Amino acid sequence: MRILVIGSGGREHALVWKIAQSPSLETMWCAPGNAGTERERIPQSGRTVENVAIGAEDLDGLLAFGKAHKPDLTVVGPDNPLALGIVNRFEAAGLRIWGPNQKAAQFESSKIFSQEFMERHGIPTARAASFDQAEPAKAFARELQGQCVVKADGLALGKGVLICHDPGEADRAIHAILEDRAFGEAGSRILIQELLVGREVSLHAFCDGNSYHLFPTSQDHKRALDGDRGLNTGGMGAYSPTPFLTAEELLEARRQILAPWQEGCKREGIDYRGILYPGLMITAQGPKVLEFNARFGDPETQVYLRRLETDLVEIMEASIDGCLREVSMRWSEEASTCIVIASGGYPGSYPKGKPISGVSDADQLDGIKVFHAGTRSQNGQIVSSGGRVLGVTALGDSLESALDQAYRATQKISFDGAFYRSDIGAKAIEAMS
Ligand code: AMP
Ligand code: GLY
Repeated sequence: MRILVIGSGGREHALVWKIAQSPSLETMWCAPGNAGTERERIPQSGRTVENVAIGAEDLDGLLAFGKAHKPDLTVVGPDNPLALGIVNRFEAAGLRIWGPNQKAAQFESSKIFSQEFMERHGIPTARAASFDQAEPAKAFARELQGQCVVKADGLALGKGVLICHDPGEADRAIHAILEDRAFGEAGSRILIQELLVGREVSLHAFCDGNSYHLFPTSQDHKRALDGDRGLNTGGMGAYSPTPFLTAEELLEARRQILAPWQEGCKREGIDYRGILYPGLMITAQGPKVLEFNARFGDPETQVYLRRLETDLVEIMEASIDGCLREVSMRWSEEASTCIVIASGGYPGSYPKGKPISGVSDADQLDGIKVFHAGTRSQNGQIVSSGGRVLGVTALGDSLESALDQAYRATQKISFDGAFYRSDIGAKAIEAMS
């Protein structure tokens, strides 16, 4: 089989690494990929993965590549190409592609669409309203005593969400998104949700248009600094499983969230094939949905794919063909964790092109796999090229041993300005002891 993977982050390196193990694989391309994807080797053919210099949002370029090389399967990592309708365009050209189509991807590309869908189908979420004018928006925020979250409707590189604690803060957030267009046209409409309090966890489910397979639980760490301080980021580290979602809560999430979501999709003619990744807050009233994503989470994918024992290509094929019920997903009993090493300044501006050392030393440690995110090769040297640079993953008999090993490996890696959180999984360890 010949497979094209689209994207260039830690999630895509993890996808490339896992897909490379598929018994049916001969050739793999990654567009545009990173220094890690092009170092992966396909055991069956002995070939390395080839990076192709086409950006994940260059749909014309990707389609031209697809038509020229005819991959048997294309796998989409990030949200933007899905929102732009890459799945519809590949399918129209007779090319097999995995991911939700443009209508289905609206669960992520429009927060207002998602909110209204949840309200139509009785899915527990925050109290909310949507606006395209500042004055009524400010009035609604005052009704919530300013304890609210102001969200740009569209995609904004994961940044279009402002958390507010008083009416003044809410007014400024509304002004910034709606009037100053801080997130561009993504903010021409906004969603204001009440501020929910509780523990945040991620769910992932493979979907095939008729049924879904739920993954084990995981937890990300969104804030940049230890103790959940600092700015929101794409995610600074993750681990799986998490003790913060009990078996009963997971059952409740299936009953109250996934079942009505699936039924709602059927009733509204939404053919959802791909990953559904709901972000949940476990509140005193039970799990509530903060948002839906239409793709694999990052860094969650890095911890999940270390635990997944089943051939990923087999599951993706079943997800496209509507026969997920015929495959089972087997997960290792081991705990899995990922520590993200970021560039100094992230999630604000940061320098690029810093030479990175110690990756292969780290990779040689027991249970370790280092996934690349913002890296590229420059004359054979790996240099930084993004905010989140590497994801150091470890498997272990317990969360504690996985974390110990991951931090041991992380310490071997260095580049100018590198930083990472030193408390990934710490609250889970505390809760379990
Ligand atoms: P989103 O992109 O919608 O998931 O929002 C980004 C982050 O903002 C989430 O991961 C949460 O930490 C936080 N957040 C979003 N919505 C809410 C809410 N209604 N209440 C509290 N925190 C929220
Ligand atoms: N881990 C956060 C995200 O993928 O959106």
